[in-house]
Amino acid sequence: TKLDMDLTAIEKGGYDHFMLKEIFEQPTTIYDCLRGRLDAETGNITMSGIQKYAEQIMNANRIMIVACGTSWHAGLVAEYIIEELCRIPVEVEYASEFRYRNPIINKGDVIIAISQSGETADTLVAIEKAKEQGAIILGIVNAVGSSIARISHAGAYTHAGPEIGVASTKAFTAQLAVLTMTALMLGQQKGTLDRDKFLLLCKELAAIPEKAEIVLKLDSQIKALAEKYKDAADALFLGRGYNFPVALEGALKLKEISYIHAEGYPAAEMKHGPIALVTDQLPVVFVATKDSYHEKVVSNMQEIKARKGKIIAVITEGDTVTPTLADDVIIIPAAHEIVAPMLSVITLQLFSYYVGVAKGYDVDKPRNLAKSVTVE
Ligand code: G6P
Repeated sequence: TKLDMDLTAIEKGGYDHFMLKEIFEQPTTIYDCLRGRLDAETGNITMSGIQKYAEQIMNANRIMIVACGTSWHAGLVAEYIIEELCRIPVEVEYASEFRYRNPIINKGDVIIAISQSGETADTLVAIEKAKEQGAIILGIVNAVGSSIARISHAGAYTHAGPEIGVASTKAFTAQLAVLTMTALMLGQQKGTLDRDKFLLLCKELAAIPEKAEIVLKLDSQIKALAEKYKDAADALFLGRGYNFPVALEGALKLKEISYIHAEGYPAAEMKHGPIALVTDQLPVVFVATKDSYHEKVVSNMQEIKARKGKIIAVITEGDTVTPTLADDVIIIPAAHEIVAPMLSVITLQLFSYYVGVAKGYDVDKPRNLAKSVTVE
């Protein structure tokens, strides 16, 4: 009805789609997620749910992260961050695999479940079983009062607000914000993270909302890029280190929204297969922000260029090397490598959104996909 249409338009707050609205909300949602928890000036992090189990987590032999889809990608970033800052081994598993393969769970093992909806059946059953076996379950959940939140011993909400677009965007960056804060808090308590680095990272994290605002200003540039590449049959997304899961997420977003076949790979691993796909018709998106892996990523870029692939590179401002190799560059503000995924991913969300729109697809309700998968 006309009334329904008007109401939906109001809910979209002037944006054409929920997905775009939610992408643009990220400076606010990341800020909301940090607010009241992170005081970057004094280096105070208050996360009472996590703190209750801090001892058990810090002394755990390992942490297991279970999730699906985009939330699983947040888990992969968290693996790298927790191992780096807290020196605790982390394993990340698809919930659907974990629940069926009789995993080894000992009393006191720590399992982090990540879920936007808090209702994903595979994730829910995975933690139910692990809980029965004595594991401590921490939920990183967006939907307040959802099943996963209720079954968890403790956890932290991501406070991103309702996410309507089927493809997850703002929930992902909020998950990264919560998981980064958690790692910072535990690393500092455990003593595996020295005070100076801790304070630096607190400031870097607190600066993300403002930098996300700057990234969103690239909107029209990214829209033009999307129109340029919208007819590609395939795409490859590459990154290393903290940007490897971002590459996976960029490929997932493109598949979900634009139905273009896309693969995400660790940039170095492409030599073992995907490089065979490279032709002058293949767009290759590099998540190549300035980090400790940068030189290595640049040499991977040279390998693609030598085979005439079309390179689109997400890079850090001030980088003078990459623009000489790439066909197109997306330049984002400098940020510490640990927090940079929250910025680089926004460019890929926008890219897939605009490719989907250019192709005339229903980006808020992509075919065959559900917002929350409550069946196995
Ligand atoms: C579905 C959604 C994805 C989401 C995944 C996990 O596939 O379409 O966007 O990442 O479920 O959902 P969750 O709510 O557990 O994060």
